[in-house]
Amino acid sequence: MDKIDFTGRVAVVTGAGGGLGREYCLALAARGAAVVVNDLGGSTTGEGGSTDYADRVVDEIRAAAASAQLRQRGHAAAGGHHPCRYGQLWTRRRCHQQRGNHATRASGSSPRATSMRCIRYTSKVLFSSLSPAYRVMVRQGYGRIILVSSQSGIFSGTPSAATTVPPRPAMIGLMNVIAQEAPGRRRSQLSVPNAVGGRSAASRAMFDPTRNSWPAAATKVPHYIEGMHPSFVAALATYLASERCTTSQNMYSVLGGKYSRIFAGLTEGWYHPGSTAPSAEEVAAHIPQIDDRSRYDVPRSGLEEMDTVIALQKRLASRN
Ligand SMILES: NC(=O)c1ccc[n+]([C@@H]2O[C@H](COP(=O)([O-])OP(=O)(O)OC[C@H]3O[C@@H](n4cnc5c(N)ncnc54)[C@H](O)[C@@H]3O)[C@@H](O)[C@H]2O)c1
Repeated sequence: MDKIDFTGRVAVVTGAGGGLGREYCLALAARGAAVVVNDLGGSTTGEGGSTDYADRVVDEIRAAAASAQLRQRGHAAAGGHHPCRYGQLWTRRRCHQQRGNHATRASGSSPRATSMRCIRYTSKVLFSSLSPAYRVMVRQGYGRIILVSSQSGIFSGTPSAATTVPPRPAMIGLMNVIAQEAPGRRRSQLSVPNAVGGRSAASRAMFDPTRNSWPAAATKVPHYIEGMHPSFVAALATYLASERCTTSQNMYSVLGGKYSRIFAGLTEGWYHPGSTAPSAEEVAAHIPQIDDRSRYDVPRSGLEEMDTVIALQKRLASRN
């Protein structure tokens, strides 16, 4: 299998000092990318800031590069294999002053105020982070944007998480817009990760069955905890960021070692002909057909959803 290689490419990783971001940086740098390590470093309630988290990752990349160079010399001396190359390291630790994820748990605010703040800052940070990268992508006709969402907000609303869940599905809309505006060799994807070790997301303690915080999840932990290291998520992100990935506008979940595609589908549904709307009772009578998931479409745009109506009309006409 050809090795995925990022030599000559630049990767900008935001939240790079966290559990997932760190792993992305290490994986991309190990494959030759020049990595921009961006992390604001403050508390999980949005206060303060420091370069400590970014610095640690920078040091790790440098140490890994140094040991790879040593290995390379060893291999060369032994007439060995092509060395693992490390890209030039770029560090820019305080690119954006707005806080995104950090605003999600602002202490002392009402849930509504915190939620509004979270949504506002998430959008601001997304746009201020993405716009410069997007402009470069358009100019050079190449690039990949990988947004991170969460199973909360897509499959479930985690209990007591009204402040953090609402912005998550917004990433789907953003991914769709970028994917449709930037065709060609420019891609936009969404990853829905699950990993332990981060500061603000899942930690092993959270899944501790002796704690009452999340007992329903704790009972399932023994079945998947092995696959919860951030490197499982980084493997997917590395592929999505690479030239090997030729698709766009896809969403992928990583949980406990299982990689799956997530999609928004439309059931074939029920068609009511004519220009007079059905009654509520008629809709109620057809709910089993409307809910039936045995046939479905996965449109990628509003136009493709229109095609599903036309296709159903044609199918019904050919049956009559
Ligand atoms: N780990 C998971 O299981 C999981 C699941 C779903 C979604 N996510 C999301 O993925 C992201 C990373 O998760 P993690 O576990 O690595 O979290 P983490 O808390 O360990 O890391 C997040 C990092 O982002 C930095 N940060 C916050 N706001 C920033 C900003 N505006 N600019 C630059 N850096 C900023 C923080 O300093 C922190 O180091 C988070 O947004 C998280 O909500 C994680």
